[in-house]
This record gives sequence, structure tokens and C-alpha cells, in this order.
Amino acid sequence: MSKQILVLPGDGIGPEIMAEAVKVLQLANDKYSLGFELSFDELGGAAVDKYGVPLADETLERARAADAILLGAVGGPKWDKIDPAIRPERGLLKIRSQLGLFANLRPAILYPQLADASSLKPEVVAGLDILIVRELTGGIYFGQPRENRVLESGERHAYDTLPYSESEIRRIAQVGFDMARVRGKKLCSVDKANVLASSQLWRTVVEEVAKDYPDIELSHMYVDNAAMQLVRAPKQFDVMVTDNMFGDILSDEASMLTGSIGMLPSASLDANNKGMYEPCHGSAPDIAGKGIANPLATILSVSMMLRYSFNQGAAADAIELAVSKVLDQGLRTGDIFSAGMTQVGTAGMGDAVVEALRSL
Ligand code: IPM
Ligand code: MG
Repeated sequence: MSKQILVLPGDGIGPEIMAEAVKVLQLANDKYSLGFELSFDELGGAAVDKYGVPLADETLERARAADAILLGAVGGPKWDKIDPAIRPERGLLKIRSQLGLFANLRPAILYPQLADASSLKPEVVAGLDILIVRELTGGIYFGQPRENRVLESGERHAYDTLPYSESEIRRIAQVGFDMARVRGKKLCSVDKANVLASSQLWRTVVEEVAKDYPDIELSHMYVDNAAMQLVRAPKQFDVMVTDNMFGDILSDEASMLTGSIGMLPSASLDANNKGMYEPCHGSAPDIAGKGIANPLATILSVSMMLRYSFNQGAAADAIELAVSKVLDQGLRTGDIFSAGMTQVGTAGMGDAVVEALRSL
């Protein structure tokens, strides 16, 4: 039976990078007889324009019915002033939450060819291979109540709520331990347990889950220290597991260790490994439409999709190898450019990966 993939290009650079990722996906589909059928829909600002909401019910139904979802990026200045309830980002949060995609895997891997593109010294980042496991459907992103109002005194006042329940912490901790088991066997749980009640529960539950994983070396770190350690000595980390907001922040930070956020893919999985795959970067409105965005994070998201949702390790490996070969050829988009390399645009990079994959 064919496998259904729903493609949601989104906003800003989303459609440009997605066009390249789709070329790579279609080639992999043919070359490895994967039997994928692609369909397309809108999410975020593009969905606001088309349907009046950032995630239409029919799109959500299509996403539920699909075997996997490939997403570009959402948001942009065009929708910054609209009703906050229908901001493009709300569509992204809704699809994550409605599909139960609680486990967000964000690998930060330094391609050796890009050691010079990192803002850190090559010896600090050489060989870097970190996996951030971010809780994606709980915490302060979804906590109720939340409010933005004017007090009787006339002062404006707003607050959010950061809740976590035991079961939510346990299941993401298990993903963290499971990932550590197939990698370097080290898990660092990041929290703010010196201040936050939710983090105190987080730490307690992670300790309990650790009893089932005696082979994994567990450590705990406060988030401020983790942010510092990531730029001081990032290679001390193997897998990091953390809550929704800390994971959002730390994954952006980790991405820059690898040279560019334009290189980082991600997978958001439910309890059955159904997933949505997207680059970690945003819609980059400042460069949208210019044909210069780096499509590699989205192309590498395709490879994660093949690996995690479809168990097609060989095809996934081939895409990663094709990316590596293109970097070997010296091709670079602007974000990863360094002296002596050949600068290419979005389509140039996508076409080069397609060629490399074809000739493998
Ligand atoms: C991410 C993004 C999103 C998030 C935004 C666009 C809502 O920053 O995927 O990291 O905060 O989760
Ligand atoms: Mg983010």
C-alpha cells in the first residue's frame, strides 16, 4: 500500500526550501521504490490567507490521515498584527498538540566540512554530535490560564502558566533514555529545579525513570548553566532532554555550534513514531523570495522522516551522504559560506543534492 506524505510548505522561505526537499524526496521515492504519495496543503500565514485560520480543520484531518508530514516554516511580518488567536504560530502549535507530537528530536551535528562556519573554534566543535530531545506539547507553550489584560488600576498585565504532569515528563524522559541507549549512553536532563516547581517534579520523575536505564549515565543541569556549557564545551553532551521552552532556546543555541541553523532538521513524534518533520529554523522573512535560503535542514528532515517514520535507513543514509558530498564539492549557501568555497542559491544547492543522490 502506498504511504501518504502531507507537505506543508508554510510561509517565508518555507515554499523555496520545500521545493528542493520535495525534489530530493521524489528522487529517493523512485530510486528506492518507497511508494510515497505526496499531497500539499497550507499551514500558518498561508493558511490564514486561504482559509482564514492558521490550521484549517480539513488540513488537520489530512494530517491525521497521513503517514508523515513534512513542514517548511511558518510566520512573517504580514501576520504580526492580526488577532493573536490566529497568528501563524498558533497553527504550528495546534498541529503539534492535536497530533500528540510530544517528542521533538533536534540533532546538532557538525559536518566536518563546516568546522570553519561555526562561531566557535574548530577544536571546540570538531566531531560535535548532540541530540536535543525537547518536550513539545506541554509546559508554558500550552499552560492555562494565560492572559493579557488591563488591571483595574489601568496597568497592563499578562501571565503564562508552566504546568507539567508526571506522565508528560515520564514519556519524554523515556524517549531521552531510549535515544541515549542507541547513541553515546549519556543523558543530561536540563531544568531550573532551583527555582521552578515544575522543574522539581521534572527532576524527580527523570530520576525515577532512570531506574529502568541502569546502563545510561544520567546527569542534571540547570538551564542557565546548560546554555553556558553548550558554548564552553559542547562535546560533553550526548543526549539532552528538556522542557518545551528550554528546548526551544537551547536548540537554537546548539544549531549555531554547527555553523548555521540552516543545517538543522527535526522530527516531532507521537507515541507510535508517527511524525512531522521540519527544519529547526523559522521562515526568515528577511530573505524570503530571494532564492538564497539554505534548503539542507529541510532536506535532512526528509532523511529523518525516512529513518524514523518509515524505517528506510538505507535511503536516509544515502540522502545524508549526498549532502556530505555536496559540501565536499565546496558548494555553500550564504549562511555557511567561507572563503574559497562556491556560493550557490537555494535551487543550486537542492539540484546538487539531487545529482549527488542520483549518482550514488
Ligand atoms: C521552533 C519555533 C517554534 C517554537 C515557533 C515558530 C512557534 O521556534 O520550532 O523552535 O517556538 O516551537
Ligand atoms: Mg525555536
